[in-house]
Parts: sequence; C-alpha cells; structure tokens
Amino acid sequence: MLNSARCIAICALLCCVHASCPPRCECSEAAHTVKCVSKDLRTVPAGIPGYTRNLFITGNQISRIGPDSFKGLDNVTNLSLSNNRISEVESHTFAGLRSLRSLDLSNNQLVVIHPEAFTVLNQSLRELNLSRALYNDSSVMDLATSLRWSSLGSLQGLDLSHNSLIYLPSRIFSHLTSLRRLQLSNNSLVVIHNSTFSGLEHLEELDLTLNALKTVPEEGLRELDSLPGAAFLLGENPFTCTCGIEPFALWLNRSQGRIKNSEGLVCAFPASMRNTSMLAVSTLTLGCHQRDAGADLALQTSYVFLGVVLGFVGLIFLFVLYLNRKGIKKRIYDMRDACREVWEGYHYRFEIDSDPRLSQVSSSADV
Ligand SMILES: *[C@@H]1O[C@H](CO)[C@@H](O)[C@H](O)[C@H]1NC(C)=O
Ligand SMILES: *[C@@H]1O[C@H](CO)[C@@H](O)[C@H](O)[C@H]1NC(C)=O
Ligand SMILES: *[C@@H]1O[C@H](CO)[C@@H](O)[C@H](O)[C@H]1NC(C)=O
Ligand SMILES: *[C@@H]1O[C@H](CO)[C@@H](O)[C@H](O)[C@H]1NC(C)=O
Ligand SMILES: *[C@@H]1O[C@H](CO)[C@@H](O)[C@H](O)[C@H]1NC(C)=O
Ligand SMILES: *[C@@H]1O[C@H](CO)[C@@H](O)[C@H](O)[C@H]1NC(C)=O
Ligand SMILES: *[C@@H]1O[C@H](CO)[C@@H](O)[C@H](O)[C@H]1NC(C)=O
Ligand SMILES: *[C@@H]1O[C@H](CO)[C@@H](O)[C@H](O)[C@H]1NC(C)=O
Ligand SMILES: *[C@@H]1O[C@H](CO)[C@@H](O)[C@H](O)[C@H]1NC(C)=O
Repeated sequence: MLNSARCIAICALLCCVHASCPPRCECSEAAHTVKCVSKDLRTVPAGIPGYTRNLFITGNQISRIGPDSFKGLDNVTNLSLSNNRISEVESHTFAGLRSLRSLDLSNNQLVVIHPEAFTVLNQSLRELNLSRALYNDSSVMDLATSLRWSSLGSLQGLDLSHNSLIYLPSRIFSHLTSLRRLQLSNNSLVVIHNSTFSGLEHLEELDLTLNALKTVPEEGLRELDSLPGAAFLLGENPFTCTCGIEPFALWLNRSQGRIKNSEGLVCAFPASMRNTSMLAVSTLTLGCHQRDAGADLALQTSYVFLGVVLGFVGLIFLFVLYLNRKGIKKRIYDMRDACREVWEGYHYRFEIDSDPRLSQVSSSADV
C-alpha cells in the first residue's frame, strides 16, 4: 500500500519531470530544443528538461548569471543568451554544461566578467559569440583575463564585433591556441601591436573591417605576417594615403592572395585621394620623394648663395685694401721704425751690461 503509493508518487514525479517544460518556454523533445524567447524572464528558468541540446533564452531581462543558473543540463551543446541585459558573468557559470560547444552572449551589457567565466568542463567550447556584448571599452581588461583563465584551448571561433574596442591588451588571445576565426569588425581599433595576435598560429580568418586603422605600420605588418594561414578583411577603415603609408600599400600588393576584396580597399583621406585604390597607391607618387628632392635642391641652392656672398665680401675687402694702399705703406714703415728703435735700445743696454769696465764705472758712480 505504502510502497505502491510511493511508486505512484515517484512515477508521477518522473513523468512530470520528463514531460515538464518551464513556464513561458516552448519545449520540443523530438528536436531536443527549448526556447524561452522574449518572455520578460529575469532569471534563467528552473526545470529545463535534461534532454535539451539547444537552449535559447533570448530577448529577456536576465541581468546576472552564475554557477546555479545551469544545473543538470549535461546534453546542452548550443546555448544562446543573446539580447538580454546580462552585466555580470560569474566564474564557472557554464562549468556544468559538459557538452557545451557553442555559447552566444551577443547583445548584452557585460561590465564584470569573472576570470573563469567561460570555463567549461572538458574544454568542449568551440564557438563564443560576444558580438555587441561588452557594456563599454573598460570591460576589455576583464575579458582579456577571462580569455586567459577559462581554459579555452579548443575554441575555434570568437566573435568580438561591435564592441567599441579601442585597444587590445597585449597577448589577449595567446591562450586560444586552436582559434580559426576572429571577428573584430566594427570596433575602434587604431593600431596593431607587436603581440596583439600572438599565439594564433591556426588562425584562418581575421576580420578587421570597420575599425579606425589609418595605416598599418611595419610593426603591425610583421604581426599580421606572423599569422601564416590567415585571410584578412580590412575594408571600411579610414586609410590615410599620405607619406608613410607606402610600406602598408606595398604589403597589400604583395599579400593580395590573403586579403579578401583587396580591390575594394580605398583611401579615405586626404580628400584629394578619396576612393583611390590602395593597391594603386604604391605606384603613385604621394609627393614624398618629390619633397625630398626639393629639399636637396634647396640645400644646394643655399650653399651656392653662401659661396657667392662670401666671394663678394672677399672682393670688397681686397678693394678696401687697394684703396688704402698708401696709408698701409706708411703704417708699415712706421711700424718698422718703431721696431728698429726698440731693438737698438735693447742692444745698447746689453752692451753696457756685458762690459765690466763700464759696469764698474757705473757702480763707483753709485757709491
Ligand atoms: C542526455 O542524453 C542522453 C542520451 O540522449 C540521455 O541518456 C541522458 O539521460 C541525457 N541527460 C540528462 C541529464 O537527461
Ligand atoms: C549549434 O552550434 C553549432 C556550432 O557549434 C552550429 O553549427 C549549429 O548550427 C548550432 N545548432 C543550432 C540549432 O543552433
Ligand atoms: C569530453 O569530450 C570528449 C570529446 O570531446 C568526449 O568523448 C568525452 O565523453 C567528454 N567527457 C565528458 C566527461 O563529458
Ligand atoms: C554572433 O551574434 C550576432 C548577433 O546575434 C550574429 O549576427 C553573428 O552572426 C554571430 N556570430 C557568429 C560568428 O555566428
Ligand atoms: C564604462 O562603464 C563603467 C561602468 O558604468 C564606467 O565606470 C566607466 O567609466 C566606463 N568607461 C568608459 C571608457 O566609458
Ligand atoms: C557598429 O556598432 C555600433 C555600436 O557599437 C552600432 O551602433 C552600429 O550600427 C554598428 N555599425 C554597423 C555597420 O554594424
Ligand atoms: C617586439 O617584440 C620583441 C620581442 O617579443 C621585441 O624584441 C621588439 O623590440 C618588439 N618591437 C617593438 C617595435 O615593440
Ligand atoms: C567614393 O565612392 C563612394 C561609393 O563608391 C561614393 O558614394 C562617393 O561619392 C565617392 N566619393 C568620391 C569623393 O569620389
Ligand atoms: C604589385 O604586385 C604585382 C604582382 O602581384 C607586381 O607586378 C607589381 O609590380 C606590384 N606593384 C608594386 C607597385 O609593387
């Protein structure tokens, strides 16, 4: 009696758990899919069935997620939390999702990302979508730390587009050793540094469209060349075609095979160069060499001018000497006479000093 009652209760529970679907969600056991879309949810609902492989909790008001949010969901491979208001992701939030391969956090407002926020047991995560996910550029330091600490050695795709990133911390991606695709489009990146992309030996695609690159100097070109298998997207940057852009333009010409739509890359500044193909820039003279030649010419001209002036001054000097030749002659004679007097005076004193009689005369005269 008691046993059968317990059995019924357990059966009912199992049955309920099996068939249950959290309120405001749609569950399809056949498709292994649960969707809770645009339902004003403020937390991740409890009671998501264990068969779920694809879990969509999108367009809600969820602001915070932590290790308690996802429990007993061993089979979830795809999780989308896009279009929420998530501002904080705690460490080990997704650690229990041991089959998780794709995590979509796009369109959120992440301010605080804890160091092991993206850790998943078994390093199963392959795709991480953080497009338009950061609240502002200040979150990038947190992001860098969590990309290092979250054991993302299997990650193959990372989408960081639309995040207003101005600067990427050095070696931010260095632990993502399997990464194939990196989306950085529509940020405000101004420079590619020495070690911005270090560690990405397997990168196949790097998307830098719609950033703030005016040029890529030699340091950045070396960095891009250190990604041997990668194709680059560089469109819609404000390339500035003035002196100094030539190494970049030559690199573009040389690397055409690795640059998607290289013909579409155009100068944005100065206005006179707008819409000029970047590939043509290396063949055009930007006025840099001409200006150098002009500087040389100016220098030579100034030397010639200096020579002429010095010559003229010399001529005037000689002319003055010529005009004054009589006075000068007289002065030379005067000087000669003066010298002679001095010399004779000296000579005379010497003779007096060396004649003992004369000196005796002079000493007796003193007495
Ligand atoms: C995950 O799926 C497998 C096979 O479909 C199933 O046996 C297992 O019970 C599921 N896990 C959970 C927690 O329901
Ligand atoms: C699940 O994620 C993978 C990438 O890991 C993707 O190819 C697949 O289309 C996704 N499935 C669904 C239903 O979103
Ligand atoms: C870890 O992942 C491998 C394949 O990536 C899988 O065969 C294995 O079952 C996973 N282990 C756990 C504990 O989920
Ligand atoms: C990331 O999410 C955005 C918006 O939800 C989507 O447009 C984009 O295609 C996703 N990125 C990848 C690599 O799937
Ligand atoms: C980013 O947002 C945080 C929190 O609101 C704020 O303290 C910080 O000053 C912001 N940083 C920038 C660069 O706007
Ligand atoms: C770029 O991102 C900003 C927000 O950061 C957005 O307002 C804008 O529409 C995006 N531009 C494109 C072309 O996607
Ligand atoms: C780039 O990094 C290397 C070492 O990794 C260093 O020796 C070199 O000075 C750096 N170059 C620049 C321009 O920062
Ligand atoms: C540059 O090209 C764009 C589209 O190709 C065009 O709309 C724009 O008027 C052009 N600007 C100039 C200065 O030629
Ligand atoms: C651009 O590359 C082509 C070969 O791809 C070469 O023939 C041409 O001379 C290069 N132009 C310049 C300016 O280096």
